[in-house]
Amino acid sequence: MSDNSRPQTEQSSAGVWTETVLEAQPPAFSTQEAEAIARRAFDIEASAHALDSERDQNFQLRTTDGNDWVLKIANPAENPALLDMQTQALLHIARVEPSLPIPRVKTTPDGASFYEVDGPDGRRFIIRALSFLPGQLLDDATLHPALLRDVGAMAARLARALRGFFHPAARHELLWDLTLAPALRTRTRHIEEQGRRRVVEETLDHFDAEVLPRLKTLRAQVIHNDVSELNTLVDGNRVTGVVDFGDLIHAPLVCDLAVPIAELSRRHPDPIAAAAEITAGYHAVTALEDDELRLIFDLACARCAMEVTIANWRVRDHPENTDYIMAGTQNAGIHLDRMRDLGAERMYSALRRACATPISLEFSDFTRSAKNKDNLQSLIERRRRRLGPELELSYKNPVHVVRGEGVWLIDEEGRSLLDAYNNVPSVGHCHPTVVQALARQAATLNTNTRYLYESVIEYADRLTATMPGDLSVCMFVCSGSEANDLAWRLAKAHTGNSGGIVVEDAYHGTTDAVYELSPADYGIDKGRTLAEYIATVPAPDGYRGQFRRSDPQYATRYAACIDEAVASLATRGFEPAAFYVDLVLSSNGIMIPPPGYLSEVFNKIRAAGGLCVADEVQSGFGRTGDHLWGFEAHDVVPDIVTLGKPIGNGLSMAAVVTSPAIVASLMKETDFFSTTGGNPVACAVGLAVLDVLEQEGLQDRAARVGAILRSQIEELAERHPLIGDVRGAGLFIGVELVRDRSTLEPATKETTAVANRMRDLGVLVGVEGPCGNVLKIRPPLVFDTNHATQFTDALDRALSEV
Ligand SMILES: Cc1ncc(COP(=O)(O)O)c(C=O)c1O
Repeated sequence: MSDNSRPQTEQSSAGVWTETVLEAQPPAFSTQEAEAIARRAFDIEASAHALDSERDQNFQLRTTDGNDWVLKIANPAENPALLDMQTQALLHIARVEPSLPIPRVKTTPDGASFYEVDGPDGRRFIIRALSFLPGQLLDDATLHPALLRDVGAMAARLARALRGFFHPAARHELLWDLTLAPALRTRTRHIEEQGRRRVVEETLDHFDAEVLPRLKTLRAQVIHNDVSELNTLVDGNRVTGVVDFGDLIHAPLVCDLAVPIAELSRRHPDPIAAAAEITAGYHAVTALEDDELRLIFDLACARCAMEVTIANWRVRDHPENTDYIMAGTQNAGIHLDRMRDLGAERMYSALRRACATPISLEFSDFTRSAKNKDNLQSLIERRRRRLGPELELSYKNPVHVVRGEGVWLIDEEGRSLLDAYNNVPSVGHCHPTVVQALARQAATLNTNTRYLYESVIEYADRLTATMPGDLSVCMFVCSGSEANDLAWRLAKAHTGNSGGIVVEDAYHGTTDAVYELSPADYGIDKGRTLAEYIATVPAPDGYRGQFRRSDPQYATRYAACIDEAVASLATRGFEPAAFYVDLVLSSNGIMIPPPGYLSEVFNKIRAAGGLCVADEVQSGFGRTGDHLWGFEAHDVVPDIVTLGKPIGNGLSMAAVVTSPAIVASLMKETDFFSTTGGNPVACAVGLAVLDVLEQEGLQDRAARVGAILRSQIEELAERHPLIGDVRGAGLFIGVELVRDRSTLEPATKETTAVANRMRDLGVLVGVEGPCGNVLKIRPPLVFDTNHATQFTDALDRALSEV
């Protein structure tokens, strides 16, 4: 099973590779001698059959009980410490993960893991017996996606089992150590074909200058380092064995993944797709870090460059073995050219997407193991006791999440739930760029805005650059509620008024002041009445409201309600300080204000002396698709914009953006300081979120995928009469369910039932609206068309079942 084309070499002190083991005569035992040693040393009664090996001598020991062994007679020039490391690694893996299909070490009757014998030529040989793993070589298998994923998963499982393993020989110098690839630069002269040589040299130079320094910052451990076609055994689409631990090395973990990627992707018509499958399989076992994903392309290229160099060098020294040496590496050069054409960025994006996709998109009904059921019950009870019994817990079968990734939430059973609900992790759960920015900054400096640091200014520059007009000053706080609270103080200070106008059923937050501006949560059902200084206007609901879409004047009619609100405030002795509007009218059941509505409203509010506050806490940061900010779709410029939720992808941060004049008005009355608002960690995160939004084109994606998802749901409406209305913008979609399309009787119970059923099918969606009959769909913006289809399939099924 050993890969014979790979010379074991050492590096001289001058840094030039010289061969040792291959130059030493391999052992030359006869089959009879091998059989005798097997019997004497390992108590194995078997017939010996020679296996191929260039540097050692290996025999398959065929026994009558079918449990065959391999007798491995090491080349006497082999470093005994390396042989010991291999044996210790095999023993370690067998202890920590016995289910891994690797060779088992056969010990001698007195418990030794090797046997020493004087050979026929008088040299001393170390002999080991390992179990023989039957199976087809991966080299001969068809590369089905499932098999590629299993190769990735097996590499990850092996590496995971080796995590706690170390050996003094682990940092030995190995020719196939990717971190030493640049040392091969001295051997590229053996590549005769000039074009190829140039590509190899460029690859190695790039690796030396750009990759190696980054590689040094990655997690490292002892790795197998050769999960290759000739060392991997398969049965159908499953890996059934990994052999040959001869290239074990302490190196960056990701190098282990680069080997199968470099080898298998060259045999695949779509190398990037193959790499993505292998990576997805790996990632499902051990989550890969972003820096690792970014380097896989270069590592795979470097591995190909190494293969080309080493093979050509070996051919020079051993021309008689040309066919044999070139056999495994003949396509490495061609593949290297192909990879360079494809480019690192394409590979990186495909790998990132692959890591954000769960292994299976199949529906399976929700179940929970008995142990996890007990655990869940105890968690719920402790939560009730410590957080109060009233704190809402979503779904009949509550979700116990342990991990998040992209559009996925992973529960305690390891099941991936498609998150179509959470808009806060807008660039994807635990986005590595954001997480790293957070971790790096948290490890460097975190302080407050009373000191000078660049990031807060840079962040404010970036945010205000996206805003029109005079919206040029940022005030940083920690939650959407705080931002709206601060906006209220600003508006009162600037206008000298103290009345507020909000949309019926609006929600703007939880502070005492903002609570008064939030009729949705006001507890009107609990007998509370609105504060005297608040007036409401109906939501411009063109579906079930007082004025409908069929009326061409309906936007104007709704806007006219502002006049009544202003008049009503006046009768109570108040003039408006501010009008607040959520640009997606989320708590109203998700509706985008109709065209023309906001410009009329803003004019009326300003005419009455008030300011216009755009609450972009839900609608901001590209969610609505066509624009970064919801207000931009309406041709209006607000006086104050409040930002929150997706601003930090989950970190508690928020901002108010307004004009210098409005800030000055407040500062005449009072000071403003938020201890943690705008701190360096928040700014690092905020900048990373903006970077990811831009780099991954998430706003465009929201527009594109949102439109597809809406049209898929509209198609469902043709079959499901329960669907009354589908509306929204980008990836903020409301689906209103009604029992009767003419009376619009709200299907409240059915809506909750659909959300619960979808949850059990593995798709998270929310329920919204004054009647509780609107499905709220606002996934992380990394949602793509596959996810949209999965969502629609689950919705289809849930609607059929309720
Ligand atoms: C439109 C809107 N504004 C403000 C807030 C308050 O934000 P936070 O919960 O971060 O205080 C919310 C929260 O749901 C919201 O939906």
